[in-house]
Amino acid sequence: MYNDIDLDAVDLTIDAPETEPDRQYYFMAKARKMIQELAAKKGRNLTFYVKTFGCQMNARDSEKLVGILEKVGYVPSDSEEADFVIYNTCTVRENANNKVYGRLGYLNGFKKKNKEMLIALCGCMMQETEVVEKIKTSYRFVDLIFGTHNIYKFAELLVNALESDKMVIDVWKDTDKIVEDLPEERKYSFKSGVNIMFGCNNFCSYCIVPYVRGRERSREPKDIINEIENLVKDGVVEVMLLGQNVNSYGKNLENPVTFAELLKEIDAIEGLERIRFMTPHPKDLSDELIEVMKHSKKICKHIHLPLQSGSTKLLKAMNRQYTKEQYLALVDKIRKEIPDVALTTDIIVGFPGETEEDFLDTMDVVQKAEYDSAFTFIYSKRSGTPAAKMENQIPEDVVKDRFDRLLKQVQTIAAKKAERLTGKVEKVLVEEINEQDAHLVTGRLANNSVVHLPGNKDMIGKIYNVCLKECKGFYYLGETVE
Ligand code: SAH
Ligand code: SF4
Ligand code: F3S
Repeated sequence: MYNDIDLDAVDLTIDAPETEPDRQYYFMAKARKMIQELAAKKGRNLTFYVKTFGCQMNARDSEKLVGILEKVGYVPSDSEEADFVIYNTCTVRENANNKVYGRLGYLNGFKKKNKEMLIALCGCMMQETEVVEKIKTSYRFVDLIFGTHNIYKFAELLVNALESDKMVIDVWKDTDKIVEDLPEERKYSFKSGVNIMFGCNNFCSYCIVPYVRGRERSREPKDIINEIENLVKDGVVEVMLLGQNVNSYGKNLENPVTFAELLKEIDAIEGLERIRFMTPHPKDLSDELIEVMKHSKKICKHIHLPLQSGSTKLLKAMNRQYTKEQYLALVDKIRKEIPDVALTTDIIVGFPGETEEDFLDTMDVVQKAEYDSAFTFIYSKRSGTPAAKMENQIPEDVVKDRFDRLLKQVQTIAAKKAERLTGKVEKVLVEEINEQDAHLVTGRLANNSVVHLPGNKDMIGKIYNVCLKECKGFYYLGETVE
């Protein structure tokens, strides 16, 4: 689709245009020329490798980076021993950062063998000044650093990096800009993430995302619809609408639109089969949204509803804006209106001040909400967030013990819930050849559960009726039926 941009039509004899996206098309044409010259000199194609850490937002951003890299003539490599390596980083928890530092040492080894190799770092970690300082002093072999707000400028930054022999650093504090119509290369041909908004205004006290992703900005509904229509023309049957809190979508647009209204418009797009979204915040999940979901055939009956904690006291300290009772009442309402809904969640263990009693409140909500699955995290102190300054940080051994108890409870309930679909016929979107057994394919139910079934590569990207013969706890074994 957007990959149709004609770089041959760009006039490189004039200065770069000021307006976007034309300015980036200019730099793509310039980069392509430089890459062609380098490839001719080397007598081979130049290769790239993009490694993505973190969430679906980063995965989507990486598709845009890959789109530009391919557009300018780099070819994909399946190893980090490539001519251009880029890490799209995450900083939501400390271990995400450590992974990046660990791998950078290893990249330096490749660079010693290939002096012209370029190493770039982008994404959420780069929005932290301490990180950039550390890289400037301890990882001087890095060539390019940019942040989350100017990722649309990647083509221009790439040209700067190719032209410069110093580290190029361009990180912005924030932006109100959304640049449309840039190239992208999707990881899957049949499904795609679609950003509906960027940033977050919630400032949950433990969370670094609002600091590294900036203030909330929604895309215009027409741009979103246009993108999805183009994706469908290109073979996409499933979209995942992405935002840190999709419930506040559209509030700040010139002509405000609700998330439920947007969903209704997307639901009407012909040829689109499945709609998913993440993440809705429990504090403002509207009745209108439940109503739209209930009546839609395309919106998957799956809600990821992050709990974080079951203790009202901790929820307050976390600035989550709901109580244990309000959360449970919401779960009841959703289950009453959409009985076959799958509910999943995120939970943090060991937030400052968490007592055994608070933890038992979390266990109680898990028991009552009966999640189909849950991501459980150990609280990680993020500098600059209010929670980092709180007293009563919890000792590691206590956290570990609670984490293990919670995980066991989550898994027991999930296995019991999964069992309920055994023997039923459900729709499965086949996504890939099974990694272990090439005679099987792997797909997903509308509720996001994984199914393995006999099949072949021609089935990828299509939806089949599948009988779920056996439940293996986290996944099913099935067979197609007529
Ligand atoms: N916007 C989404 C979450 C994005 S971050 C939402 O509000 O649901 C994904 C998850 O990471 C969060 O739901 C939370 O459970 C977890 N998380 C965020 N900050 C964390 C921290 N400092 N320590 C541990 N887990 C954290
Ligand atoms: Fe972080 Fe809260 Fe925003 Fe989610 S809603 S990104 S947890 S601040
Ligand atoms: Fe990580 Fe940034 Fe996503 S911090 S979770 S990659 S928004």
